[in-house]
Amino acid sequence: MQMHVIDHPLIAHKLTALRDERTDSPTFRRLTEELVTLLAYEATREVRTAPVQVTTPVAVADGVKLASPKPLIVPILRAGLGMLEGMVRLLPTAEVGFLGMLRDEETLLASTYAERLPQDLSGRQCYVLDPMLATGGTLVDAIGFLVDRGADSITAICLLVAPEGCARLERDLAGLDIPVSVVTAAMDDKLNERGYIVPGLGDAGDRLYGVV
Ligand code: URA
Repeated sequence: MQMHVIDHPLIAHKLTALRDERTDSPTFRRLTEELVTLLAYEATREVRTAPVQVTTPVAVADGVKLASPKPLIVPILRAGLGMLEGMVRLLPTAEVGFLGMLRDEETLLASTYAERLPQDLSGRQCYVLDPMLATGGTLVDAIGFLVDRGADSITAICLLVAPEGCARLERDLAGLDIPVSVVTAAMDDKLNERGYIVPGLGDAGDRLYGVV
């Protein structure tokens, strides 16, 4: 598993505004989208392309287009939905599948409550959207789900990562024979006793969509 913490002043600037408890939901949603588009630029560095030629007004030029099968974007509901627009802005031709996962606030264990994904993911590059890599339980389960269906490579985009979640991914995904990477804006200090990332930004789902 590879962890990429992206060091860029614009990312740091937007993340700081996102962390601020005074940032309201509409602004939080907009900043999340902008941040994801910047992270997606790095996350898609290995996206597969096929050679093509185009005719310019002057001559024929060699170029590339995204290869088939198309990349698959998988937002983890609920909070991952807030990252989708920012991702499809960069990859408008990608397909989108959905995975609904819920974290039990007592046990901190994740369970799957909804799924809309192709049965066969052979040869697919998958981009998982999950804003907070906290304990790592949700992401480990989501990656397992995609691997079981034959995913070829998996890149998770997370706004924030906790060291505990990173260690869990390293441990639980050690035997995997497909490439897995995580692209994030920051590695924070730790988890608190309630499983929240510190200093973090609070509950990403609540800040995007309110406490429901
Ligand atoms: N999920 C969140 O939304 N925030 C955290 O800090 C941890 C998990």
